[in-house]
Amino acid sequence: MGRIFTKNIKALAKTAASLDETLFHNANGYIGVRGSLEEGVPHDFNTMRGTYINGFYDIVDMKQAENLCNLIEKKETMLNVADTQTIYLTVNGEPFSLLTGDIVKCKRSLDMDEGVTTREVVWKSPKGDKVGINIKRMTSFEELSLFTIEYEVTALSKDAKVMFSSAHIPEVSNYSDASDPRLAAESPKFINLVDSGIWDGTSYALAETTRSGLKVCSMVSHTVSDPKARLCTVRDGNGNMICDVVCDVKKGEKVTLVKYSIFTDSLRFEDPVAAAKEKMSVVMEDGLPYYYNKQRLYLKNYWKNSMLEIHNDARMSEAVSFNMYELLCSSAKDSFGNIAAKGLSGEGYEGHYFWDTEMFVLPYFVLTDPYLARMLLRYRYRTLDKARENARLMGHKKGALFPWRTITGVECSGYFPSGTAQYHIDGDIAYSIINYYLVTGDLDFIKECGEEVLIETARLWLDVGNYVGGTFRINDVTGPDEYTCMVNNNYYTNMVAAYNLRWAVKLYKLLEEKGLAGALKKKIKITEAELKEMSEAADKMYFAPLSKDGVIPQDDSFFDKPKWNIKGTPKDKFPLLLHYHPLHLYRYQVCKQADTVMAFFLFGDMIDKKTQEKSFEYYEEVTTHDSSLSKCAFSVVASKLGMKDKAYKYFGNSAEFDIRNLHDNTQYGVHTANMGGSFMAVVYGFAGLSITEKGISIAPFVPDKWTGYSFKINYMGSRVRIDVTKDNVTVTLEEGNPFTMEIYGRKRKISKTTDVIII
Ligand code: BGC
Repeated sequence: MGRIFTKNIKALAKTAASLDETLFHNANGYIGVRGSLEEGVPHDFNTMRGTYINGFYDIVDMKQAENLCNLIEKKETMLNVADTQTIYLTVNGEPFSLLTGDIVKCKRSLDMDEGVTTREVVWKSPKGDKVGINIKRMTSFEELSLFTIEYEVTALSKDAKVMFSSAHIPEVSNYSDASDPRLAAESPKFINLVDSGIWDGTSYALAETTRSGLKVCSMVSHTVSDPKARLCTVRDGNGNMICDVVCDVKKGEKVTLVKYSIFTDSLRFEDPVAAAKEKMSVVMEDGLPYYYNKQRLYLKNYWKNSMLEIHNDARMSEAVSFNMYELLCSSAKDSFGNIAAKGLSGEGYEGHYFWDTEMFVLPYFVLTDPYLARMLLRYRYRTLDKARENARLMGHKKGALFPWRTITGVECSGYFPSGTAQYHIDGDIAYSIINYYLVTGDLDFIKECGEEVLIETARLWLDVGNYVGGTFRINDVTGPDEYTCMVNNNYYTNMVAAYNLRWAVKLYKLLEEKGLAGALKKKIKITEAELKEMSEAADKMYFAPLSKDGVIPQDDSFFDKPKWNIKGTPKDKFPLLLHYHPLHLYRYQVCKQADTVMAFFLFGDMIDKKTQEKSFEYYEEVTTHDSSLSKCAFSVVASKLGMKDKAYKYFGNSAEFDIRNLHDNTQYGVHTANMGGSFMAVVYGFAGLSITEKGISIAPFVPDKWTGYSFKINYMGSRVRIDVTKDNVTVTLEEGNPFTMEIYGRKRKISKTTDVIII
C-alpha cells in the first residue's frame, strides 16, 4: 500500500485554507512552496502564500526598549521569495475558483512515494459547464532548484475554451502577525527587484535583499500539450510576468500546461542568473517525466533506509510516515542551511534553527541517513567562529556559545531570558556530535570538526560555572522549560554540561592515542591542565538534593514556588505564554515542556529508576505541554520506565500533532522537532533502543492496541530491519557487516541469517 495522505474538501473554508497550505506544501530541503491554491483566495482568508529557500535571509532591526549592553538588536529572518505558483484558469470566459459554481469533487493528496502533491477537482462553473482539473506539484530531490506544476484541464460537459494565465511575481512580502510571538511582527517586504526579463518565453527575475546583500533568481518556463496553442509571455504594469495560453478543448479531451520554476541564490551560486539559465535548459531538455521518475527512485531509496510501519494501525502508520517524509523535506542537503523549527513549510519562528535540530531531528537522521546527519552537524561547525564571538558578547573569556535561534550562526533571539540564556544548546550540540560518533564510529568527523566543537563548548562551561564548597555550579541559565527562566543549576543543563565536559576530554585523548590530535592541538592550543579542569568540573558538577519525596528538583529554587493550578486554568488560556506575563509564569511551578524528564530521556541509564519514576509523575502534574517538543519526550521516558499506557497516549498525540492539527497552529508550519520525536517515541521508547559506548541494545514491547511494528536503523555502517510482534522480535541484517546487539539483555550476533527472538 502506498504512503498517501488525502483530504476531501467539500467547501473552501477560511481556516482550512491556511492549514492545507502547510499540509500540502512541497519542499526538498532547498526550496519550500506552501500549498496555496494556484488561483488564489480572497484577501480576508489571511493565508500565508509563500516560497522559501533554506538559509536565505534578510536582516531586521529588533530595537530593544532599553539600550542595555550587548543586547541583540538585529535578527535574521527567512524570506518569502518570488511567487511562481499562481495560475489563473478561465473556462468559457468564467474564472475558476473553489468559491464559485459547484465543487462536485475536490481531493488533495500528498503522495510520499512519488514525492508529489495533487489536487483533483471536478468543478461546475456558475453557468453550468463542468471541467475536471488535476494539478500535480513537485519540488525535485534530483534538481533541488526545481519546482513544477502540471496543470491538466478536461472538458467534461461540452467543448471548452480554456485560458491559463500563469504568473511569475518577483516582489512579494513576508507574513506577519504582531499578536503572536511565534511569528514575525514587523514589516514584511524584504526583497527588491534588480533585474528581470523575458526571452524565448522564459521569464527571469533577480531580486536583492534589503540588508543582507543576498540575491535570488527565479526563472519560469512553460510547455503546453496542445500543439496549436500559443504561449505568450508579457510583463504587466506591476512588473509581474504573465504567460497566457488559450486552447480549444473538445468535450472528453484535455489540455495540460507544465510550469517549470527554477530558484537559485547567491549563497550557493556565484552568478544565480547564469546558474538558473543553465539549470532551466537542462530541465526543459530532460522533461517532466524524467524528474517524476527520479523523484520516485529517490524516495524508494529513502524509505528503504527509513521505514517505520505499525502493523495494524493504518492511521498511526500514516501519521508517522507523514512526519518522516516532512523531515526529509525540511532538511537542508548542504551545510548552508539546516532544519528550521517549521522546516520550509511556513514562516512560524522565521525560519530559525534551534536545539530542535540536534535533540529531536538529528537522532532520526543519525539512525537512518548518517551522511545527512554529518552534513547537518557540519553546519554547526561552519558557524563555530560566530559562536565564539557570541560567547565574547556574553562576557565569556573563552569558549563558544551557540545561539539559541539563528540562520547564519548569530544570535537572533530578542528576549534573552527564554532565548540566549538557554545555554544548554551548547550541551545539546555536543550531545548530538557524541551520539553521531556512537552510532557511526566516524572518528574522521570528530577529528575534522567534532572535537573542536566539543572543546570549545566545554571551555564555555568552565567559564560560565564556578565552585561553591567544592561543587561546580552553573548559575543564571534557562533550561528547556521556557516557563522557568534564569535559574541556578538547572538539572538538565548541568547534566548535558557534565556530559559535554567528560566527552570533550575522552575524545581528545582518543585522538591523541591514535596520533590524530596534532592539528587540533595547534589550532586551539589545548593543554593537559585544561583537560584536567574539564574532567574535574564534570566530576564535581552540582545537583541539588532530592525533595523529601525523592523528586529531582528542576533547579535550585523550583520547589520553593507554588504550583500553578493547571486543572483550574480555563482551556482557552493555553498556551499560557499567550495569556500571562512571563514573569508571572516564572514564579510558579509550571513547565511548558519536558525539562528534567528530557534529561531522563538522554541519561536515564545513569539515574536511579525509582527516582526517575517519582520525578516523572511529579513533572507530569506541573507540565502543560504548551510546546510541541514535550509529549514525545514524555512518551520515550514513560516507555523506559515501563509505563506503557502513558507512553502510548503521549506517542499518539505526538504522532498526529500536525496531520490532525492538534495545537491549532499547523497553519503556520509543521513542527519538525516533534516529528523527529514521534519516531523516537517508537524506536527509543517502545523498542527501547539504546546506543552507548558499550554498544547497541533493544528491549521492545508492543503497545496493547497494536499487533506489532517494524522499523529500520543504521548502526556502524550496517542497516538492520527490526520486526516486533507480541510473540517475537526478528532482526534482519539488510546491508553491511555483522555486529553484536544486546536484545533483552542478551548479546546476539546480527548477521545475514534472520535472528528470531521469542519473547
Ligand atoms: C520551545 C523550544 C523550541 C522552539 C522552536 C518553543 O516553543 O519551547 O524548546 O526550541 O519552540 O520549536
